Amino acid sequence: MIRLLLFLSYAGLRSHALLRFGCSQLVTERLDPLGTPGQVSPHVHQIIGGNAFNVTMDPALDIPSVATCTTCKFKEDKSNYWTAVMYFKHPNGTFTRVPQIPNHFVGSTDGGMTVYYVQPGGNRVSAFPKGFRMITGNPKVRLSSPSEPSDVGSWALSFRCWESPDPFGPSNTYPPGAGQYDTRHLPNKKCAGGIRSNVFFPSCWDGKNTDMPDHSSHTAYPLGSVNPNVGILGFAGEGCPSSHPVRVPHVLYETYWDTSKFNNLLTDTEWETEQPLVLSMGDPTGYGQHGDYLFGWEGDSLQRAMDNCMDGFGWPEACTELTVQTDEEMNSCRLATKVDENVGESEYIEALPGCNPLQNGPEPATTVEGCLAVSTTIASVATPV
Ligand SMILES: *[C@@H]1O[C@H](CO)[C@@H](O)[C@H](O)[C@H]1NC(C)=O
Ligand SMILES: *[C@@H]1O[C@H](CO)[C@@H](O)[C@H](O)[C@H]1NC(C)=O
Repeated sequence: MIRLLLFLSYAGLRSHALLRFGCSQLVTERLDPLGTPGQVSPHVHQIIGGNAFNVTMDPALDIPSVATCTTCKFKEDKSNYWTAVMYFKHPNGTFTRVPQIPNHFVGSTDGGMTVYYVQPGGNRVSAFPKGFRMITGNPKVRLSSPSEPSDVGSWALSFRCWESPDPFGPSNTYPPGAGQYDTRHLPNKKCAGGIRSNVFFPSCWDGKNTDMPDHSSHTAYPLGSVNPNVGILGFAGEGCPSSHPVRVPHVLYETYWDTSKFNNLLTDTEWETEQPLVLSMGDPTGYGQHGDYLFGWEGDSLQRAMDNCMDGFGWPEACTELTVQTDEEMNSCRLATKVDENVGESEYIEALPGCNPLQNGPEPATTVEGCLAVSTTIASVATPV
């Protein structure tokens, strides 16, 4: 806690709005209502948040009135958040899903992620408007240049290799995405304490569009230069570009993968020679990591929280504007899967769902045509061809 507090204050977050909370798994399946609405998506996602999540999410939908529960700590937050899932490739070529476990200090969430809403710098932020959604990252990318201080967006996606699960250990000294333990690519060695994926969204908005065809050009990163030891948690830089002048909360997803349970299946050399972890889009590099965000907070609840909740650690109970629920309540909010297939949670699977081949790049991944290895339980879901 001391170290976390240290790095949060180091990042200049003291007396700035901060929410940091756990969310349990809502469902894990091949759906992506932003990327492929109405269809089975090309790869598996793990989804958290409100149970209004569906194959299609009409922007006009009043999400808080459709959702009856949420897997997130605050009852008011019916948003949905999703990313790729991670698999371990066994020596015989089969795959099993790498479990997600609770992050430091989020309680006993069942899988899921930790979500942050941060006020970048001292100026007021505007909560996202109804119908707002965005994507960061690109699942087809397999090549990355190193993070550059002058390229703010290059700090958005990273992985931490934890030496131990101890939150006070040396490998948890730096903020997410910063310092010597985080890499843009999946770690190419065993991580005794597991791996955390850090997914940051841009914190500037054009003030007009709640979405765009590419789900990202209505958002932008602040201008300025990043301190490599601090990263972009709460980064305000020199403010927002004139094209995207509205400051919105800086959203971060942390996903904690328990990779350590696979460490004894390979020798160190075998692991380093053929890094066995792969993201669900057939990405063994990690450069294709991406996050989807679909705003769904009730009324003005997020605005009130960003105006008033200044706890330096973002502790949920300290935000009296919002209503917290117990871990049991969060864990009991679940959605039945609509796509009827085995995603490798309890069984070994011969191929990644969607039969995505492993593509190492550096050229962008290509879409595999004609993989219809799925049946669905709802007739309205069409498989992509
Ligand atoms: C999801 O969409 C289907 C088809 O439109 C609808 O029948 C169902 O009620 C929706 N589920 C939720 C949770 O809104
Ligand atoms: C692959 O290896 C796993 C772990 O040793 C084993 O349980 C599974 O049966 C094997 N599958 C095949 C198809 O060989």
